[in-house]
Amino acid sequence: MPAKKATKPAVAAPDAEKDTVAYEVRGRIAWVKFNRPDKRNCMSPALNRQMMRVLDALEYRDDVGVLVLGGEGSAWSAGMDLKEYFRETEAAGLGAVRQSQRESYGWFRRLRWYQKPTIAMVNGWCFGGGYGPLFACDLAFAAEEAKFGLSEINWGILPGGGASKIAAELLSFRRAMYHAMTGEMIDGRTAAEWGLVNEAVPLAKLEARVAEVAAMLLEKNPVALKATKDAIRRVREMTYDNAEDYLVRAQEAANSFDNDGRKEGIRQFIDEKSYKPGLGAYDASKRSSG
Ligand code: COA
Repeated sequence: MPAKKATKPAVAAPDAEKDTVAYEVRGRIAWVKFNRPDKRNCMSPALNRQMMRVLDALEYRDDVGVLVLGGEGSAWSAGMDLKEYFRETEAAGLGAVRQSQRESYGWFRRLRWYQKPTIAMVNGWCFGGGYGPLFACDLAFAAEEAKFGLSEINWGILPGGGASKIAAELLSFRRAMYHAMTGEMIDGRTAAEWGLVNEAVPLAKLEARVAEVAAMLLEKNPVALKATKDAIRRVREMTYDNAEDYLVRAQEAANSFDNDGRKEGIRQFIDEKSYKPGLGAYDASKRSSG
């Protein structure tokens, strides 16, 4: 019998699963990127699995205070991979379809409730399924040149993977309908005007603007930030009375993680008179507990 040839490549294939997401931590910011630029960063099952691993690896690192999600190359994300996510999993049967949905919806959900504040940095194309991670991020900044679209109608499906819900959440009824029914793209400026993103700036200034916002978040009390971002997402679906009650409980729960932070904030304002909460954050380095 002939000896078996080694089949393992010496170097990883360009689209190896682990390479579908790139990241580095600089200055307490985790810069995570969709990394399939040749495929306009569309989300394959491999990318969805790898993104969950990367989110896992970064979530509780002490040297990470903010996570930024960007895209390598000309796209942020061209949505779900029509070939690998739809055609190939469908060909493999219902079990494969459900698994691929769990993998993508799983990391979108994980990101919606992430421990650290998150910022979408939309550098280019953002289509369809890309609205899932866009909404999952707490804040979103776009290049004026970026293009957003619910393209599903153009290839014959409804905006799934949360996209219809996201359009209805973030846009006015008329805009959501128009956006979803026509598949017409909007640019970054219009996305900001419509409330799909916080702000649009020229592409050349996008990273600097995001770094500036991240720096603001890094100054805040991290326990208060997590409690705040969860509160804003949760209360949207509550009655006023339920929200009022939830917020009392959520603050009391946050106190059990960090009761000194808010006391220090009051002390520096009322006793020390070293800052004004209306104008900026207190100096966390003066805390006796850290
Ligand atoms: N699924 C699968 N493949 C995709 C893809 C997607 N969503 N988006 C891009 N690609 C692939 C293309 O098939 C092409 O592959 P190839 O090099 O093997 O031919 C490669 O990425 C580059 O795409 P291309 O269309 O040549 O780039 P472009 O810069 O001219 O156009 C887009 C960019 C985003 C406008 C265009 O690729 C597009 O319309 N993509 C689909 C967007 C979409 O409808 N997404 C919704 C999914 S829910």
